Amino acid sequence: MTDRAGWLSFPDAPRIVHPPPGPRSRELLGDQARWETDAVGYPHYFPIAPRIGQGATIEDVDGNRFIDWVGGICVLNLGHRHPRLVAALERQSEEIWHTLELPTEARVRFLKELRETLPGKLHNHARIFFSVTGGDCVETAVNLADFATGKRGTVAFSGAYHGVHGGAVHLTSGRRYHATTSFPSGSVIRVPYPDPYRPVLGADEGAAGTISYLEHLVNDPHSGVDAISSVLVEPILGEGGYVVPPDDFLPSLREFCDRHGILLIVDEVQTGLGRTGKMWAVEHSGVSPDIVCIAKSIGGGLPLAVVAYRDDLVRELPRGFHLGTFRANALALAAGAETLKVLREGDLLDRTRHRGPELLHRFRAIADRHPMIGDVRGRGFMLGVEFVRDRTSRTAWGERAKEMRSALLARGVLMHTSGSWDQVLRFMAPLVIEDELLERGLLAFEDALESLEAGAEPVRGAPRAPRPTGPGALAPMPVHAVPSPLVPPVPGRDLPGDDA
Ligand SMILES: Cc1ncc(COP(=O)(O)O)c(C=O)c1O
Repeated sequence: MTDRAGWLSFPDAPRIVHPPPGPRSRELLGDQARWETDAVGYPHYFPIAPRIGQGATIEDVDGNRFIDWVGGICVLNLGHRHPRLVAALERQSEEIWHTLELPTEARVRFLKELRETLPGKLHNHARIFFSVTGGDCVETAVNLADFATGKRGTVAFSGAYHGVHGGAVHLTSGRRYHATTSFPSGSVIRVPYPDPYRPVLGADEGAAGTISYLEHLVNDPHSGVDAISSVLVEPILGEGGYVVPPDDFLPSLREFCDRHGILLIVDEVQTGLGRTGKMWAVEHSGVSPDIVCIAKSIGGGLPLAVVAYRDDLVRELPRGFHLGTFRANALALAAGAETLKVLREGDLLDRTRHRGPELLHRFRAIADRHPMIGDVRGRGFMLGVEFVRDRTSRTAWGERAKEMRSALLARGVLMHTSGSWDQVLRFMAPLVIEDELLERGLLAFEDALESLEAGAEPVRGAPRAPRPTGPGALAPMPVHAVPSPLVPPVPGRDLPGDDA
């Protein structure tokens, strides 16, 4: 598959032979722009036409090879075309592809594998809804919580992204997403997510501010909130900027829910399947959710999504409570069962738990040399680098993060933005990425920073000569999320203008 033993990726990435977009990419991008809706965004962020994906690398139609630190936004945790998934898909493709809700071997194998991996009380005691997208899962989870409690009212957090389906879009926080939907907003109660870098409800006190605000919503008859059936939470904010909440947040949220008969829905769409070094991000906290939403990486790159709920949550659901023709496609299930197996059997979770803090440390060392970086944070292979105009005001610098994205593309590294102002570059490489490609990506990252600081146009063409590295090139670091040494937390909040 590759010319270097043991490698899944193209060993010579990054390789730029035609500065992107190359001539063939331009042609395809042009046709797309003419014939597809102009609402598509990614061709503007990454103006290339991919031809083949391999491990943690992509080759475009012009022969450029990129290190992929996007991974389809946490879809490709096992990388592009993992050999085990290719084999599973080949086997399934010889049998059957689509069966509506009828059971197949692949479907039942998947259900068994999934139930075995689920966290807390869901472990081997869950029931499963199938779906196709993360947004649909979230909507179904909220419908289920309302049905189970007989109440309406969902707490969702600022900075949250839960998709843009009819109902889910109102659980997502960004104004820009609400602006393009025609569907009414339902009963969403918005609460600030505890963000250690940009605290809203008090700094230095962990999740206490958030929890006391939630208590106020329940206890004060004039809080303006009639009822709460569920709290919907991302264990780490994804699109919201890779914000890691204080350690006491999820446990306190669980206690709050228990005190008031409220269900806890954990959205693991972006954080799940080993992304943070455990199968589920919620496992870092020891919290047991009532309902979990899973999508993105569960299908190994094929469309598959799942809602898992405690099997004692509801006695009986009406037939057809949730529908959709393409749910639980047999090919996607074959890939999904194998994805779970690879993650459970191999050392990828351990490696991510160890490599993640090492990488965090390396990004922080780079940040120490470049004041435009205000914060570096994350867990496992879910790391965020936040750009600020200055470290004192913490004014978000989205333009700089986007310039970095272009400068990195020119150097053969794909990295995407997130955060309210697009000010956070996020590292979300496939977990299978080779150490050497991590080193090369870090070199390209600092080279791009220096070039922007020097006011130079992003350098086109090949990056500096790759520095081959041996085992141990990434210095071992403690296995936990380390508080950022870059900027001491300050009370209050700095809100730059919303350019979203
Ligand atoms: C945490 C989270 N939930 C839900 C979604 C929506 O998933 P989908 O795009 O498959 O609808 C996303 C997508 O990015 C997400 O990050």
